Amino acid sequence: MERAVLDRVTEPREDVPFGVYVHWPFCLSKCPYCDFNSHVRHVAVEQDRFARAFATEIATTAERIGRRTVSTIFFGGGTPSLMKPETVGAVLDAIARHWTVAPNAEISLEANPTSVEAERFRGFRTAGVNRVSLGVQALDDDSLKALGRLHTAAEAMAAVGTARKIFDRYSFDLIYARPGQGVAAWASELRRAIAEAAEHLSLYQLTIEPDTPFEALERAGKLAVPGDTVARHLFDITQEVCAAAGLPAYEVSNHARPGAECRHNLVYWRYGEYAGIGPGAHGRLLDAAGGRFATATEKRPEAWLANVEDHGHGLVVDEAVTRPEQADEFLLMGLRLTEGIDPKRFEKIAGRPLDPARIADLMSYGFVETMPNGRLRVTRSGFPVLDAVVADLAA
Ligand SMILES: C[S@@+](CC[C@H](N)C(=O)[O-])C[C@H]1O[C@@H](n2cnc3c(N)ncnc32)[C@H](O)[C@@H]1O
Ligand code: SF4
Repeated sequence: MERAVLDRVTEPREDVPFGVYVHWPFCLSKCPYCDFNSHVRHVAVEQDRFARAFATEIATTAERIGRRTVSTIFFGGGTPSLMKPETVGAVLDAIARHWTVAPNAEISLEANPTSVEAERFRGFRTAGVNRVSLGVQALDDDSLKALGRLHTAAEAMAAVGTARKIFDRYSFDLIYARPGQGVAAWASELRRAIAEAAEHLSLYQLTIEPDTPFEALERAGKLAVPGDTVARHLFDITQEVCAAAGLPAYEVSNHARPGAECRHNLVYWRYGEYAGIGPGAHGRLLDAAGGRFATATEKRPEAWLANVEDHGHGLVVDEAVTRPEQADEFLLMGLRLTEGIDPKRFEKIAGRPLDPARIADLMSYGFVETMPNGRLRVTRSGFPVLDAVVADLAA
């Protein structure tokens, strides 16, 4: 692990919002579609020991970057709702000891919607969490079973009801483009979901990830996801149904009432600064000279724990991000947003303007558009080919 020489970008650090991501890497079982850093343990996880290690890694990160005002904190996983409220509280205390937590900070936690986990919601609220994101995934039991989920639809809706009583803000996730799912069935499921969703929904198209059981099943011809044309219709109907219900997309897969967007995820997409704490967490840290560093920690939970206990951190990647790399990342993240990107900020980061010929070309295909405020964004027809659009603009 070596720190390369900095490549300076002249963005005042105080203009860049700062968030903290905390990764809890354990789940009760592994879902067959998931390739996130999540692990199943058949012995009790030593939560006190993990809490101490989280606090150590937070202290080491704070020592490195200095004072910050934390605008958002996100407990992601894995299944953070398996954390004891005291563990969550200890992490929040450590963050508050080393940085200033903004009075209106958004503090989110991802929860699996089982009844056992819902029982902890009150404790999470008391610990300081003010927003939960529930992994509902589907609204019928057959689909949930096919996705390998441990909860029923009724249990998930009961957890949503508990979240509604305890938290001012909650969101839930659904996975669509599931095997055999048609457009009409999805539209009706989505309308039922919207009736339960107050302000925010994350709607992910099922992706067949490498080295997952779903990939093996697909290869064996035992699982078929909708083809490109149906997937495109599913995406379009998602946009239409959500927009009509007052939850327009603000990002490719995220929908919210205006003002209820997930501020933590906006830190990523608006290319802010964030610390990644815990096993397999990624960060982007700024130093006093305007350099940006990409960090990543050891993914294996027990190895991460040992590294933190021995060295004060679990970093396995700590690299300066060059200006051209930053420019690419800025496009890759920002063009996911319906607000698009500010070409002037691109120029500041990249040290060169976007190529007007390439923009004109992409406009002629209807993939991007400029907005009256001067921002550049990807259109609805451009979103399905987002990666190609970004690659074209970045080249
Ligand atoms: C990694 S999970 C963590 C939250 C929690 N453990 C859960 O399962 O609800 C975050 C979200 O990623 C989404 N996800 C994970 N793998 C996916 C895949 N292969 N395709 C689409 N969405 C996926 C699911 O909707 C899930 O709610
Ligand atoms: S989808 Fe959620 S519960 Fe399932 S394995 Fe992934 S992180 Fe764990």
